[in-house]
Amino acid sequence: EDPSSAKVFHLEIQSGQMQFTDGGPTDTWGVNGAFLGPTLRAKRGQEIAFAVRNGLDEATSLHWHGMHLPAVMDGGPHQEVRPGETWTPQWTVDQPAATLWYHPHPHGRTAAHLLRGLAGMFIVDDDGSEALRLPQTYGVDDVPMIVQDRKFDGDDQFDDAATLFGALGVTGDRLLVNGTVGPYFDVTTRLVRLRLLNASGARMYHFGFSDDRTFSLIATDGGLLPEAWETDRIQLSPGERAEIVVAFEPGETVDLRSYPTDIGGVMGRLDGFADRLDVCRFRAGEALADDTEIPAVMGTAPDIDAGAAAVERSFTLGGDAVNGEAMSMERIDFGVRVDTVEVWGVVNDNGFLHNFHVHDVQFQVLEVAGEEPPPHLRGWKDTVPLLPGEPNRLALRFTGYTDPNMPYMFHCHVLQHEDDGMMGQFVVL
Ligand code: C2O
Ligand code: CU
Ligand code: CU
Repeated sequence: EDPSSAKVFHLEIQSGQMQFTDGGPTDTWGVNGAFLGPTLRAKRGQEIAFAVRNGLDEATSLHWHGMHLPAVMDGGPHQEVRPGETWTPQWTVDQPAATLWYHPHPHGRTAAHLLRGLAGMFIVDDDGSEALRLPQTYGVDDVPMIVQDRKFDGDDQFDDAATLFGALGVTGDRLLVNGTVGPYFDVTTRLVRLRLLNASGARMYHFGFSDDRTFSLIATDGGLLPEAWETDRIQLSPGERAEIVVAFEPGETVDLRSYPTDIGGVMGRLDGFADRLDVCRFRAGEALADDTEIPAVMGTAPDIDAGAAAVERSFTLGGDAVNGEAMSMERIDFGVRVDTVEVWGVVNDNGFLHNFHVHDVQFQVLEVAGEEPPPHLRGWKDTVPLLPGEPNRLALRFTGYTDPNMPYMFHCHVLQHEDDGMMGQFVVL
């Protein structure tokens, strides 16, 4: 490999301060800045390389969530970067256009490090996506929205005390979009594409507009859907992404909100699940450019032949563990054969919200609660909600990279749960 052909990203993890409240500044962490990090962008087929320098005084890592890559480049708990050190992963992007993200993943401290501000978007493009007439002018009609909740203590610092039900992790009632309090967006085009990322540690968002207008879901975690699905709500658990396209009328103002979640049971009535929060205000100008459209055909549907599955596994999430075992850095739970199909059954064993994320792969949801998955779970996914009483069946096929010594992770993306042990490791052989 000729390193000179690679696109190189220089990332400095650093501490800083931000003004979020009416009081004093909040101590934060960020990548190349005080809070959050730059949107990274690369195209399928491109070789990319990083210099990730840790300017903090404690070890952390950067994990490329949703990326198909060698396990040693993954940025999980086995690739922590010590203070003052620089980590230099590189790989060739080989997956469809998608909205991915990056965040820290140090063992047992992921929730705290994300809360401090380490996160960013990672957009993958491909020839097919670039040729579509979808909105794709970054910051104009194609807008990343990193949605996070925070609460502040009496000293204007991030409050990381968990709620009454500590098992949920930390939820806050102050929303930040791309690190901004009270955000608005000035709309200049009729169609706007929003890349929504739930970058919260615990809160689930149920996005919709204040006038209940419909919008088009065009992509899920792993990329574009075959065709758009029209809806007026989209629910995202921690770590999930959705790309939506919204149509605006000249001169109007409308709010994107998070509505009470649709998860039922006791959970649905708790703090962080039952409240309605304003996310972002959209203010449309008097003249809107109108030169994009939602194509009839966009991406490809997952088509894993689950009938060919060589192996079935089951995962029960509950009690800070998966299948009764808490995460151990020393234990590799299983090995997967490369280029084979596996079917994984995933069950929520207690009443709390969980979800399920697998590194390295985009998978197909076969069933939710014994039924065909709802439209928003029919595309490629790397993270799925796991609601009480609604087991998932997933089809996965790992390709390309093998490494008997370096594992990938699977875990609940409610970060307190992950940190408490609801995570395991597998190798691809
Ligand atoms: Cu988004 Cu294992 O992480
Ligand atoms: Cu991940
Ligand atoms: Cu969980």
